[in-house]
Amino acid sequence: MYAQMIKSEATQEDPEKLAAFQARIDAGEKIEPKDWMPQGYRKTLIRQIGQHAHSEIVGQLPEGNWITRAPTLERKAILLAKVQDEAGHGLYLYCAAETLGVTRDELTEMLLDGRMKYSSIFNYPTLTWADMGAVGWLVDGAAIMNQVPLQRTSFGPYSRAMIRICKEESFHQRQGYDIMMKMANGTPAQKKMAQDALNRFWYPSLMMFGPSDKESVHSEQSMAWKIKMNTNDELRQKFVDQTVPQAEYLGLTVPDENLKWNEETGHYDFSQPDWSEFFDVLKGNGPCNRERLAARNKAWDDGKWVRDGLLAHAEKKAARRVAAE
Ligand code: 3HC
Repeated sequence: MYAQMIKSEATQEDPEKLAAFQARIDAGEKIEPKDWMPQGYRKTLIRQIGQHAHSEIVGQLPEGNWITRAPTLERKAILLAKVQDEAGHGLYLYCAAETLGVTRDELTEMLLDGRMKYSSIFNYPTLTWADMGAVGWLVDGAAIMNQVPLQRTSFGPYSRAMIRICKEESFHQRQGYDIMMKMANGTPAQKKMAQDALNRFWYPSLMMFGPSDKESVHSEQSMAWKIKMNTNDELRQKFVDQTVPQAEYLGLTVPDENLKWNEETGHYDFSQPDWSEFFDVLKGNGPCNRERLAARNKAWDDGKWVRDGLLAHAEKKAARRVAAE
């Protein structure tokens, strides 16, 4: 259906409509689901919102790993609430994508068979409790840096979903930083765990913003359509500038020998992540890609009886209604 939908729109690309559409974007108007839109705009949104939704859902796995082993009841309750929030974010985003004419089932199938991506970061393992701190602080921190501007994105349902999501992500980042503060100010062994978590999550967090602007395939068009509000490199730099002082406050060291404040630019100079590792993770070869997809496929298979039951109930109800009419 997704492929059909894209094809059936091919006839609509008339230059006048395209110009009027771009004028609306340039004037800062929101585009709503029933408005005319170029097929590329619709396709880009389905790809980006779908990937984003999948990231929220797959992102529950590395943290879900620690719910049963949280060090206190309070930490467990907080982590549980955070993981539930991520499920909610996934649902708002699937709903936003559905307004573009794709179904949630279609998106899910494309995730499960590898046709759609999710954020590279969730293919890294969470080895210690300190990783819950690093994920909240760095991963949710990077997500917010990317998502705050997306509150102003041109597609109405996506923009509105982002407003709620950003509020919750701020809480997530604070809970992560709070864990890091406790660990960094704890025993030498706890501080070492916090440093180790920062060492392992620093570069994968920088990768979350996507490839460098030179290598980014979609940025130029997405920014012209205001689907994206900033380039990947702009957001990565903002993230580094914001996070380095936070690491210093914790008494931890960012694992980058080239990290240096640059008076001239007013920004930190920093080392780029290993981009060959990034592209390898995207190809499915990260430390946890197989495990993550296997977990989502298992959840889908295990939930079949629920979906079948709900569908049978809905069909029965509809048949009863028809018979009564
Ligand atoms: N992980 C996986 N794939 C990535 C990626 C990443 N970190 N960064 C880029 N890519 C992929 C792109 O999807 C694209 O592949 P495709 O053409 O097959 O879809 C390719 O690499 C080239 O990258 P581009 O820069 O051209 O791609 P985009 O213009 O889409 O930019 C993006 C990438 C900045 C991630 C953008 O899609 C975006 O802003 N997305 C919305 C935010 C989002 O998805 N965030 C997920 C973060 S995790 C999260 O929110 C969960 C929370 O709980 C922490």
